[in-house]
Amino acid sequence: MKLTPDQQAMLDGEQGWPLQIAMQMLTAVGAALDATDMIPVTSTHLVIDGTALGEAGRDFLERLVDEGGRFAIPASINAIAVDRTKADMSTEEHDQIRMLQACEKMGALPSCSCNPFIQGILPTFGEHVAWSESATAPFVNSVLGARTNREGATAVASALTGLAPRCGMHLDKNRHGEILLRVETDISGVDQFSLLGALAGRLAGDRIPVLDGIATTPSTDEYVAFGAAFAIHGAAAMFHVAGITPEAPDIGTAFGGAAPAEEFIIDEAAIAAEHAATANGTAGPVDVVSIGCPHASLDQLRDAEAMLKNGQASRDVTFYIHTNRSTWDAADAEGVIETLTGAGVSVTADNCAVVSYDRVPTGTRLATNSAKMALFARSVSDAEILFGTTADCIAAGITGTWGSGTGNSGTG
Ligand code: F3S
Repeated sequence: MKLTPDQQAMLDGEQGWPLQIAMQMLTAVGAALDATDMIPVTSTHLVIDGTALGEAGRDFLERLVDEGGRFAIPASINAIAVDRTKADMSTEEHDQIRMLQACEKMGALPSCSCNPFIQGILPTFGEHVAWSESATAPFVNSVLGARTNREGATAVASALTGLAPRCGMHLDKNRHGEILLRVETDISGVDQFSLLGALAGRLAGDRIPVLDGIATTPSTDEYVAFGAAFAIHGAAAMFHVAGITPEAPDIGTAFGGAAPAEEFIIDEAAIAAEHAATANGTAGPVDVVSIGCPHASLDQLRDAEAMLKNGQASRDVTFYIHTNRSTWDAADAEGVIETLTGAGVSVTADNCAVVSYDRVPTGTRLATNSAKMALFARSVSDAEILFGTTADCIAAGITGTWGSGTGNSGTG
């Protein structure tokens, strides 16, 4: 890779260990992906989940601080594995807080959310950024028209240097659609966009899909639900919605003038099949309700409040709505948190039912409206999944039962 004299000096260690290790990471990735040089990036989003990074992650971040590492660009933080306000933390939870504090010392914003978009953290069209958390990349690239690869640990290196290798989604030629998904059924609500995202991700694999047939511009909540499920079921960092997303004013432009390599029809039966594949639980008692994956917006909290105004969560159910601290505070100022808490809901901040040291136990019967939560809970807690609309999940939280009125009653 061609490096400027300043970048070469960082790599040679002339500007300290943090910048040297960062440049070593970036040049290694760049060489593997045939990057010609580095591109300046204007923000990063960092994953510091302590359940994944452990003591080694804590030691690395603290050493960066001790050796003078400071972030060169704005950096937000993904969901962490503990609520920062929790009293009596375990050693691991305290380690998670130390990781967050290390990032804050280097200049990060402690946003602690897998849905930074509802916190107003929104790269603009054409901006080059370096964001980790796979689910954020499809939204950044597709909905906002900014440019990021699905970064991992390299996001910390980008935060320190303000650079990323010039490859992948930073290049025009890699942003065109590759397969066509003809959507021939009405899709609405976060649950259905989540199922559509899961199916689209699996059909696409590492190819960029163009969805045709979405008649109405999805809401931010629907896009976020789609993107999270899309990312966890596939490897692509972008999708297009013909006639709607900014780089797809029409199908021809979305494909860059080329023909799609493959076409698929997504009809009502395909969505029903995706639902059946997502939900492996049968009708009966519910242990946990989990809404807010990715973290719930203020609108979603208000909707839940309206649905729960005259209801009370069953004593037999742990009823979670996950969000981030800033949205929690905004909802609290409106009295929404008080109503939800009074109805027996635990509105969590910073973490969620599975990104937590206190994740749901093995075999939990978990009701959710999120295909991402469904997949995570199945893989980390061997959960039985009950999948439906937000209203289905709230009804199950109140009655303590997943039954005939709800999404996958008795289907197995
Ligand atoms: Fe966020 Fe947890 Fe879902 S971190 S994306 S709510 S699995």
